[in-house]
Amino acid sequence: MEKNFKRTLITTALPYANGPVHIGHLAGVYVPADIYARYLRANGKEVLLVGGSDEHGVPITIKARKEGVTPQDIVDRYHTIIKKSMEGLGISFDVYSRTTSDIHSHTASEFFSRLYANGKFIEKTSLQPYDEQAGEFLADRYVVGTCPHCGSDRAYGDQCEACGTSLNATDLINPHSALTSAPVTLKETSHWFLPLNDYQEALSKWILEGHKEWKTNVYGQCKSWLDMGLQPRAVSRDLNWGVPVPVEGAEGKVLYVWFDAPIGYISNTKEILPDTWQQWWKSPESRVVNFIGKDNIVFHCIVFPAMLMAYGDGYQLPDNVPANEFLNLEGDKISTSRNWAVWLHEYLEDFPGKQDVLRYVLTANAPETKDNDFTWSDFQARNNNELVAILGNFVNRAMVLTHKYFQGAVPTPATLQPIDETLFAEILDIKQRVSEKLDTFHFRDALKDAMDMARAGNKYLQETEPWKLAKTDMERTATVLYCALQLCADMAVAFEPFMPFMAQKLRLMLGMESMAWDAIGGRELVPAGSKINESELLFEKIADETIAAQLQRLADIKEQNKIASWKAEPQAADVDFDTFMKADLRVGTVLECSRVPKADKLLKFLIDDGLEKRTIVSGIAKYYAPEELVGKQVVFIANLPPRKLKGIVSQGMILSAENADGSLVVISPSAAVVPGAQVK
Ligand code: 2FM
Ligand code: ZN
Repeated sequence: MEKNFKRTLITTALPYANGPVHIGHLAGVYVPADIYARYLRANGKEVLLVGGSDEHGVPITIKARKEGVTPQDIVDRYHTIIKKSMEGLGISFDVYSRTTSDIHSHTASEFFSRLYANGKFIEKTSLQPYDEQAGEFLADRYVVGTCPHCGSDRAYGDQCEACGTSLNATDLINPHSALTSAPVTLKETSHWFLPLNDYQEALSKWILEGHKEWKTNVYGQCKSWLDMGLQPRAVSRDLNWGVPVPVEGAEGKVLYVWFDAPIGYISNTKEILPDTWQQWWKSPESRVVNFIGKDNIVFHCIVFPAMLMAYGDGYQLPDNVPANEFLNLEGDKISTSRNWAVWLHEYLEDFPGKQDVLRYVLTANAPETKDNDFTWSDFQARNNNELVAILGNFVNRAMVLTHKYFQGAVPTPATLQPIDETLFAEILDIKQRVSEKLDTFHFRDALKDAMDMARAGNKYLQETEPWKLAKTDMERTATVLYCALQLCADMAVAFEPFMPFMAQKLRLMLGMESMAWDAIGGRELVPAGSKINESELLFEKIADETIAAQLQRLADIKEQNKIASWKAEPQAADVDFDTFMKADLRVGTVLECSRVPKADKLLKFLIDDGLEKRTIVSGIAKYYAPEELVGKQVVFIANLPPRKLKGIVSQGMILSAENADGSLVVISPSAAVVPGAQVK
């Protein structure tokens, strides 16, 4: 281990309970935190893995209003889904609680009161957006108006989603309330601020001098905040959902969600260890490690540490904050509101028994140093080409051969040969590499190194060929399979942090007892003569159709999003009346309609235009079967110059309207008219 702490308190960012958990959360926070916790436990360390739902904040109130339910209904719903799905994936929380618990309200409230009593806040009055009709102050999200940058009339007071610009509510043109549509006014209100500037020096010293070992993305973000100079930050809000500000006369005010959420780590520790929680937070023998995503860095490295410094009483600052970057999905940013995500609870339903595949893929492709992309084809390839073909294949061969030649008992080895010694030496080397990477939060590389064990195993079997040896030399066959089984046992231990379900299955197959990290590389993890159980496949191939179904689901979501975000095109520039009147618009009756060979978009029409029969080619083949148009009346431009399309001369253009999803609908008169009737 890198540093010799007695206890490690591992915290995981509390996910907002306004939606389920998705692969971005998992790759960024929960899977690496769980790997780390399991690794430390395997090393005999005292570990506490703490998590919970973040149940306050404005987005939850917005969702509740939209659905016509209470914020409590929303958080109850998502907390249940999140907790159950995390368990399903094997995230080994010692406690997974919530910020609406009583213990949290008391803890957060007491934290504020102490800072307040000790004069750690400054009180400031400012003008804030207000809805006179509703009689409420408006959070930035509740102010809507026109974006000063792109002109979108659906910008929010904190951000314009059309152009992505961060905004202040006062930047918006024509700001109005999302609650009542009333124009927004500004009203004076007072709030408490934590003067972060007072902690600038201490924080700079602690991070910039004391924690040069932090990940470069984390260190770099802290440095740039510190270089800009810290400013006081408001820690209260005018809102009716949250922990009430425990100050007389502060009715209608709650703690800012980012003030109460990190205190959740403390409340959750208290909840699980009511008598000994302080040891985990205040003893120099303990350390705290915060697993978070990159958007949380400032709160965990600057704001919360400043809060803890202000509180005093021996609270330790985090020893490390291994924040990850973001995971995208099929090239696009994951988004809860646009449903652009792979949701954990849905994955667990769609892929029963394949928790470890997801854990493996998210770790192998973890966004540790830069944003990464999750694609279903990569998921399939890693499963089929790595888990099945390398890891599963090695274990299966060692197990099956043992059953075949030694009736399912670990054979007794003879003297080891150099190739066997090399294998054991290689395992020890790999163990060393994996440990070093895990100690320093390089989970992706650690997993890659661990896979070298399976690669070494396959190479060993390829070189020793026990299936051939068995024909001539049973003693040597016994030795080779003995060594191969030891390696299977090593893998059960080494992979446990990454893939606990597979490790458990392998442990049971081998009848292993100890799963201590120290045992890896040992010579007698499964002793000669001990029975092994039936061999089961650890992984199975994932079929193309399974992947296609997931891709289809995403394609459908893209389509729905396109429709939901559809907006009418702005009106075109004026056209003078005489020019418009030059277009000769007529109604014609479709006499014949057929597909154009080798052109999947085109239909060929024969139209009765009142004077003669004319041919028109139109690009609507994707939306109509030719026969459904025969006999229909359509509107067409009669006086366009003829144009050749796929060798056919088209004499005009049939008019269609384009729908939100891009489909075309032919324009017809609402009642039958004579063919050739002019459209006026
Ligand atoms: O960004 C988020 O999802 C926040 N809910 C994380 C909070 S972390 C902690 F402070 F509780
Ligand atoms: Zn904009």
